[in-house]
Order: sequence, then C-alpha cells, then structure tokens
Amino acid sequence: MPTKKFIKYDNYQEYPLPEMIERSRKFYEELSRRRTVRQFSKRSVPREIIENCIRAAGTAPSGAHIQPWKFIVVGNSKIKNEIQAQAEAGEWEFYSGKATQNWVRDLEQLGTDDRKSFLTVAPWLIVIFAQKYCLDSNGVRKKHYYVNESVGIASGILITALHRAGLAALTYTPSKSNFLNKLLGRSENERPFMIVVTGFPAVDVKVPDLTRKSLSEISEFI
Ligand SMILES: Cc1cc2nc3c(=O)[nH]c(=O)nc-3n(C[C@H](O)[C@H](O)[C@H](O)COP(=O)(O)O)c2cc1C
Repeated sequence: MPTKKFIKYDNYQEYPLPEMIERSRKFYEELSRRRTVRQFSKRSVPREIIENCIRAAGTAPSGAHIQPWKFIVVGNSKIKNEIQAQAEAGEWEFYSGKATQNWVRDLEQLGTDDRKSFLTVAPWLIVIFAQKYCLDSNGVRKKHYYVNESVGIASGILITALHRAGLAALTYTPSKSNFLNKLLGRSENERPFMIVVTGFPAVDVKVPDLTRKSLSEISEFI
C-alpha cells in the first residue's frame, strides 16, 4: 500500500495584485502572438531548448498523477523521410475522398493539402504518445485515467513553452497515425496523439488570416 507523504509547498510565489494583473496581461499578449506555422526553415535548433520545453510539458497535471505521456523527439532525417512518406499516403486518401465535404470546406481557409513537406524541413518532430494503460510488475494491465485530458494539457504546455522559447510550431494530426507505433518502436498501450513540428519559421512565412473568439464569446462569469 502506498503511504501518504506530504511536503511543504514552499516554492509557491505570490505577487502584489497590480503585478499579477500586469503579468497575466503580458502573458496573454505573448500568447496572442502564437500562430501555427506550416512552412519552416531548415535552421537547426539546439536540443537543449526542446528538452527544456518537454520538461515544461512534463509539469502538466494528470489524472491520479499517472503522467500518461511520452514524447519521442525525431531529428534523424531518415526517420523524418519515412514519417513524411507514410503520413502523405494517409493524407492522399483523406483529401481524395475519405474526408467529408464539410471537413474539406473547413480546411480550405488553412490552405492545407496532402503534401506535408514540413515533416522533413523542420529540425524537430515531437511525436506525442498517450499511454492508455500500463503493465504492473506482474504484467497485469493497470488502467490510466483521463488520458486525453492529461495529454491534451501537456501538449498545450509544450506548444506554449516552444512559443515562449521563440520557436514556431505546428500541431499536426496525421489522418492515419498507427504507422508511428511501428516506425518509432512504441508498444500497443501507446496511441499516437499528435506530432508537434517545431523549428524556426520560413523567411516571410504567411499564415491564414483567422480571428479568435472574444472573451465574451468564450466565457461567462456567473
Ligand atoms: C488537435 C489539433 C489538431 C490539428 N491538426 C492539424 C493538422 O493536422 N494539420 C494542420 O495543418 N494543422 C492542424 N492543427 C492546427 C490548427 O489548424 C490551428 O491551430 C488553427 O487553424 C488555429 O490557428 P493558430 O494555431 O494559428 O491560432 C491542429 C490543431 C489542433 C489543436
């Protein structure tokens, strides 16, 4: 039986109220500059930056503190080529009939198609796996709780950390992603969640002209 152990939370930091308001405003302003980028530069990015961003992602809260995530970081060109080839095969099926008309219409504003050259141009692909369950020391399946919620939060923190570090990112969810298990040697309990493609944006990169919902649209105070 695990025993309860509590420690003093002595690194909590409070700020004077005006400073809290200023910090929250600045953080929002910084995040409002984040955009998904689909054209990257080939410029290399030090591994240490990616490691720190993954450390940040690993601070995410998770159901029963299971931490059901794994970040597989691909910098190897041969593996990136293979990911692109297999992802594009799935995308071709998607764009040439599998996707519903509504879905294709919603994607039009983004200018995406079945070509995914960013997968080989960007220096790093962070492939996030969600661990549906694990095996205990007796080989018995141990259920994980709130896996999607937990991995979603960790992924959000990762994207935020990359942005804050000065990198661009793309949340890429391949139409077919099961190939990633075999290619990256992950076991059956791990489900590909998304690929966070990251690096510097291409020079003069363009992004779709999108509007975000206002505070009153996304929230209600009651
Ligand atoms: C769960 C999820 C899946 C996404 N999948 C893709 C994708 O497969 N391909 C792509 O180009 N963008 C993808 N995106 C990026 C969105 O299109 C993008 O976040 C959205 O258009 C808003 O643009 P912004 O990130 O610049 O604010 C995805 C985003 C999320 C959150």
